[in-house]
Amino acid sequence: MPGGEINIRPMQASDYDAVLALWQETEGVGLNESDARENVAAYLTRNPGMSRIATDPEGGVVGAVLCGHDGRRGYLHHLAVAARRRRSGVGLALVGACFESLRQAGIPKCNIFAYADNAAGQSFWRHTGWNARTELLVMQKQV
Ligand SMILES: CC(C)(COP(=O)(O)OP(=O)(O)OC[C@H]1O[C@@H](n2cnc3c(N)ncnc32)[C@H](O)[C@@H]1OP(=O)(O)O)[C@@H](O)C(=O)NCCC(=O)NCCS
Repeated sequence: MPGGEINIRPMQASDYDAVLALWQETEGVGLNESDARENVAAYLTRNPGMSRIATDPEGGVVGAVLCGHDGRRGYLHHLAVAARRRRSGVGLALVGACFESLRQAGIPKCNIFAYADNAAGQSFWRHTGWNARTELLVMQKQV
């Protein structure tokens, strides 16, 4: 892989600062109050070992994704690969590691949420075998 070997490992709460920095610099990743340090830590605790990061040989975070499930469906959030490391298989490796965790948990299907105007992101998902459920609408209400 150009630029050195990439390592994929489970995301830990202590990775938060580096992961947040990557998400903040990545187009197509929308951050909100649910991405505060304590919320991400809670997500990792509820879904142990499922979210992943990719690190370069120096230990820098060059990729990240949140992965979890609710007992029925799996979910991926905020898949991001540093621009200089794209098109080298990092994104697919992160998703593959998450799928391995979901398989082990007995979860048969996985959902993602993508911005409708994120054409490049959608292109990646379609290219890697994902289908848009165009008959569905995502709705939301404040609790
Ligand atoms: C989408 C993203 C995570 C892909 O990461 P990546 O490491 O470049 O992807 P990979 O190298 O693993 O690509 C896997 C396959 O998808 C293809 N691919 C990657 N990006 C693509 C794109 N934008 N459009 C079409 N195909 C794409 C690769 O060519 C490769 O195909 P191949 O297996 O036939 O060779 C990365 O571009 C990114 O961080 N984008 C911005 C954030 C974003 O949009 N995330 C999704 C939010 S919903």
